[in-house]
Amino acid sequence: MKLELKNIKKNVLFNNQQISILKDVSMTCQSGQIVVIVGESGSGKSTLLNIMSTLDDATAGEYLWKGNNIFSFSKKKQESFLANNIGIVFQQYNLINDMPADDNVKIALYVNSEVKKRDRDKKVDEVLDKVGLYDRKKHLPNTLSGGEQQRVAIARAIINNPDIVFADEPTGNVDRDNEEHILNIIREIANQGKIVVIVTHSEVVKTFADKVYRLSDGRLIEETRSEEKLR
Ligand SMILES: Nc1ncnc2c1ncn2[C@@H]1O[C@H](COP(=O)(O)OP(=O)(O)OP(=O)(O)O)[C@@H](O)[C@H]1O
Ligand SMILES: [Mg+2]
Repeated sequence: MKLELKNIKKNVLFNNQQISILKDVSMTCQSGQIVVIVGESGSGKSTLLNIMSTLDDATAGEYLWKGNNIFSFSKKKQESFLANNIGIVFQQYNLINDMPADDNVKIALYVNSEVKKRDRDKKVDEVLDKVGLYDRKKHLPNTLSGGEQQRVAIARAIINNPDIVFADEPTGNVDRDNEEHILNIIREIANQGKIVVIVTHSEVVKTFADKVYRLSDGRLIEETRSEEKLR
């Protein structure tokens, strides 16, 4: 499966002035790949992820999935593309503070009619086990470390078995050991044939990538790299 962006532009109106955030962004992601996008703060990384998640509209360009242009879908069809195909790991986790880890993950199942109500708990246990948090499942977010909260967010993003996972700085607030732990989980997700797109500042994350792009001046440029992958 292939996910493709072609000549994406994003302009916003700010104080009566057009600001061009994305000028010409094209890229291709294949199943099984981890694609990493690096770029300075303010370069437009989150804007791009929001467009790819259909949470924001592009000004121009095409977004192809299995040969279909997602931008030409109705709002309703885009919503079902988002619900059925995409998992998002938000930079600030977006966990609900007064809910234990397992309930935070379970929420994602409420939009999935394929998993029966009686099977939900089992499914949550499986995915928490996968990210190494089964024994922490009754912990509230504020009693978990940053890396553990990040892994709850990953569990929530993958529980519906999406084809595509987007992660905004998934290791932004964790130490080096936790970073490697999280990246190994992400590598496993990609190895199951998923597409993973990560935006980050981290050089360590780049070493886990199959492909690295740099976002600069509204354009995406593929970085040529030496064979120094850690995995
Ligand atoms: N609705 C908007 N109106 C005006 N400017 C905007 C709007 N949305 C984003 N921007 C600007 O576009 C630029 C890109 O923002 P974006 O959040 O995508 O950057 P980023 O690469 O994710 O940065 P960071 O690494 O700090 O998270 C920023 O300069 C931001 O101020
Ligand atoms: Mg950002």
